[in-house]
Amino acid sequence: MVRSELKKQSNKNHVNVIVIVLMKLALSCLLLGLAIHLLFFFSDSSHSELLRASTNQTQTAANNNVDEEEEKCDLFVGDWVADPSPPLYTNESCLLIEDHQNCMRNGRPDSEFLYWRWAPRACGLPRFSPTKFLHIMRDKSWAFIGDSISRNHVQSLLCILSQIEAAQGVYHDEEFKSKIWKFPSYNFTLSVIWTPFLIKADIFEDSNGLSSSEIQLRLDTLDHKWTNQYHNFNYVVIAGGKWFLKTAIYHENGTVRGCHYCPGKNLTELGFDYAYRKALRQVFHFLTNSNHKATVFFRTTTPDHFENGEWFSGGYCNRTVPFEEDQVRLSDVDSIMRGIELQELEKVAAWEHGVRLKLLDTTRLALLRPDGHPGPYRQFHPFANDMNAKIQNDCLHWCLPGPIDSWNDIVLQMLLNGRS
Ligand SMILES: *[C@@H]1O[C@H](CO)[C@@H](O)[C@H](O)[C@H]1NC(C)=O
Ligand SMILES: *[C@@H]1O[C@H](CO)[C@@H](O)[C@H](O)[C@H]1NC(C)=O
Ligand SMILES: *[C@@H]1O[C@H](CO)[C@@H](O)[C@H](O)[C@H]1NC(C)=O
Ligand SMILES: *[C@@H]1O[C@H](CO)[C@@H](O)[C@H](O)[C@H]1NC(C)=O
Ligand SMILES: *[C@@H]1O[C@H](CO)[C@@H](O)[C@H](O)[C@H]1NC(C)=O
Ligand SMILES: *[C@@H]1O[C@H](CO)[C@@H](O)[C@H](O)[C@H]1NC(C)=O
Repeated sequence: MVRSELKKQSNKNHVNVIVIVLMKLALSCLLLGLAIHLLFFFSDSSHSELLRASTNQTQTAANNNVDEEEEKCDLFVGDWVADPSPPLYTNESCLLIEDHQNCMRNGRPDSEFLYWRWAPRACGLPRFSPTKFLHIMRDKSWAFIGDSISRNHVQSLLCILSQIEAAQGVYHDEEFKSKIWKFPSYNFTLSVIWTPFLIKADIFEDSNGLSSSEIQLRLDTLDHKWTNQYHNFNYVVIAGGKWFLKTAIYHENGTVRGCHYCPGKNLTELGFDYAYRKALRQVFHFLTNSNHKATVFFRTTTPDHFENGEWFSGGYCNRTVPFEEDQVRLSDVDSIMRGIELQELEKVAAWEHGVRLKLLDTTRLALLRPDGHPGPYRQFHPFANDMNAKIQNDCLHWCLPGPIDSWNDIVLQMLLNGRS
């Protein structure tokens, strides 16, 4: 059943969702130079303050984290170390990998990127054990909530778990963006909910992803798509992201409050940081005030690795090994996003009411993996007919298997730390 879903999906998605995301992202990147200027002219928060916040807050956020006593060591301070053991699944043993992340099937020639593991400096991090995980998850329900990176993440978990038991697809929405699977012998339910802003957004895109009008964002209203289902979940991984960089009109209290990058509209430029902060505030407020108590992992922003251009201007990501610590720095946009994430999460610690809210701070470890993206291998054998073909690169999503699998090692370790 899942296979036929995927078949349908890949047919349907020939003009695909990821390209759309990338197009949008790129469009915003194109405008970003200008938008960044606007941002710093119009935003309340100063540039330096945000950057300082983002480079200097990991410790504070980790220390003040809601589950402080559970942090045995900072799992996010570490290194990628060479590891000869093969990934927990392959494109042959997992048939649930979406076409655009299925790098090996698509002909990616190098495989060294598969042989690294994340090693925290202060403690060991065992490999993900699907048996252990499913044992904990008996009769439980788990959801990934966010954009296509969350979908990328759920596929990793699905592939790892399906080595133990085949997942049964039990639901998908019309566009195959939100889905539900069951692992019958464990009575475990795994969901992914596509809600790229987490707040209510009217998105005017046709099936080709071409926008006929600006996104209308309701900064004071969460997206019911996930809040209506929240009470069903025991565990949640939730994340915001790059969609906030897009052109959008911002509504609050039923009126237009301003926008992000809307020249000619005579609206106040508020900057994406304004909307992102408001959105996360709503999210954390909802989570901490809900009567339903779930274990919630909040994942931080995911850096992309386009080099020498953006996707539309020849940007690529053809590295084959991780960066060394000092070879790379977080982009301004990602610094701003992560800064907001840590600041807003830190605030809720003060009035937390029993929700188990954990920081899944994958930004840094993701930043060090420029080698983990599909690049041109988001397409099936892109250079089969022409060695010099001009191919759209994806330097944002992750190959499966690939570095995103390590996010699950960390999640399981955090679960285990929380239980002992
Ligand atoms: C981090 O913040 C502290 C104050 O909270 C400050 O003294 C220190 O200089 C900051 N470090 C960096 C690298 O910005
Ligand atoms: C998996 O990838 C290999 C190339 O690495 C390819 O030969 C094989 O056909 C692929 N299998 C599937 C099921 O996609
Ligand atoms: C499966 O788990 C749900 C809770 O998620 C529970 O209500 C239901 O009774 C379980 N079913 C079986 C057959 O144990
Ligand atoms: C929205 O309205 C509420 C009460 O009606 C008020 O407290 C709040 O300040 C308003 N927010 C904005 C941004 O105008
Ligand atoms: C822009 O908006 C302001 C007030 O919001 C108004 O005074 C001004 O006339 C508007 N300008 C144009 C060109 O519409
Ligand atoms: C990546 O591509 C650039 C431009 O085509 C090339 O100069 C460079 O050698 C490539 N690097 C690797 C590791 O293949």
